[in-house]
Amino acid sequence: MRCKSRWLWILSWLQSLVVFPLYVWTISPQLQRGRSIAITRGASKPSMRSPLKTSGKSSNTPRGCCVAVVGAGVAGLVCARRLRQAGIQVEVFEASDAVGGRVRTDTVELPGNAKEEGTFLLDRGFQILIEAYPQVKRQLDLKRLGLRSFAPGAFLAFGKGELRMVSDPIRSPKYILRTITSGIASIKDLLILLLLRFKQVFFEGPYTALEECQGTPPPNTESFMLGKLGLSTVLVDRFLRPFFEAIYVTPLAQQSSACFRFVLRMLAEGRTSLPERGMQAVADQLAEDLLVRLCSPIVEVRPTGVRIDAEWKDFDAVVLAVDLPAARAFLPELDQTDEGTRSSTWYFALPSPPPVSEPLIVLNSTLQTGPDEADLPRLVNVAFPSLVQPSYAPKGWDLAAVTVRGPEKLGFGESWVRHELGCLFGIGSLDAWRLLRVYHLDFHQPAQWPRTLQPRVPVASGIYVCGDHCAEPTLDSAMRSGQRAAEAVLEAIFVADLRRV
Ligand SMILES: *[C@@H]1O[C@H](CO)[C@@H](O)[C@H](O)[C@H]1NC(C)=O
Repeated sequence: MRCKSRWLWILSWLQSLVVFPLYVWTISPQLQRGRSIAITRGASKPSMRSPLKTSGKSSNTPRGCCVAVVGAGVAGLVCARRLRQAGIQVEVFEASDAVGGRVRTDTVELPGNAKEEGTFLLDRGFQILIEAYPQVKRQLDLKRLGLRSFAPGAFLAFGKGELRMVSDPIRSPKYILRTITSGIASIKDLLILLLLRFKQVFFEGPYTALEECQGTPPPNTESFMLGKLGLSTVLVDRFLRPFFEAIYVTPLAQQSSACFRFVLRMLAEGRTSLPERGMQAVADQLAEDLLVRLCSPIVEVRPTGVRIDAEWKDFDAVVLAVDLPAARAFLPELDQTDEGTRSSTWYFALPSPPPVSEPLIVLNSTLQTGPDEADLPRLVNVAFPSLVQPSYAPKGWDLAAVTVRGPEKLGFGESWVRHELGCLFGIGSLDAWRLLRVYHLDFHQPAQWPRTLQPRVPVASGIYVCGDHCAEPTLDSAMRSGQRAAEAVLEAIFVADLRRV
């Protein structure tokens, strides 16, 4: 067995050096199997305080059960879909006017222009779809999303308009020279990363990094990169730190190395893309065929029902699928200490062409001065979604998404953002850039470190809970937690059903 896998390893390694498509072909297929089993196994044990009524309006079969899902974000939608598949009636309650939660898109026209000139697609906070996420592949029909992808890599902005390009030498060989000459990664760094990648691809499952740290908190990503992996400070400070701070909008020292390893693997395995109709299309697809009541804020939840305004509606089980701040308001017994991260995305319309031509994200790679910097606003990254997905901007225009770390109360304004952009691209005047809209995300993601990341289906007061705060702050985890909550509900229904017979 060992011998066989070593041979496979050597063989694939040789292949990867020679022919790239073979490499892809070798790693992808078998890795995905067994995944669904792992997830089902992760479902919680039947709860002792099973919130299911064994009498009342539910009929003799589980199929007569009716479950309420509060919140039509990604976790809630996935949960509802799974329950529906099992033949359970599900009603989803959403307080806002559309599904998606934090995965939403607005259609916006240029101020002062007629609608005929076209519209911009603004995701509520810049986001991307990582196609390799196991749950993304499982829950979504990616073909129907009309995806287009970023190139694997990034532009590193050193200030005063200096941009250097780094890219994945395996997936984007055409930029290999520019990467090597960028002076960012030493040969040693490249070898370390290559070895890590091969270890992940051949010896680990997709979720190994996350599973390994259950029970014991993993080191933070900064000490993992510099200490455990031994990467150079140049590579970390100029590329990996800005890159992962762009993903999580959190200082590297407050990120979990388990999330880093998981996402690194996902980035190596698949593309990062934008749907043709914006990220909202992801949520819309999940909501197809579901009964979702929009503009229906729930004011109280109990194991046996939910209250809208003054009216109580009875259910056999209730799943609370709202984000952490909202969940805390419903269930004070949830952990009240975890902080969330804050960020804002500033969308500008600019006449084509944008300052960069390749579909790569632009990272602020200026060195940070110290820990007290975490309290200052920082321009983290700039992306031009319309370079990747032309539907994001009308003809003749491009869209810039500028992500800034830090709470709104820091008081930075449009002129600060424009000044930073000017430094980044070395452009004196940004007069032609027109601010379309700003999204202040007071709760961008739940904090990821220090804490033990473990898949949880908390059953608080008999109510099932799911969302990214039940695991890691990724789209995949949000989906996985929804799936897990649904399995737990099904298990309880099944147990209650057996008892009745
Ligand atoms: C990038 O980050 C550094 C450090 O946080 C900051 O001082 C600088 O203003 C940022 N912006 C640009 C355009 O370099």
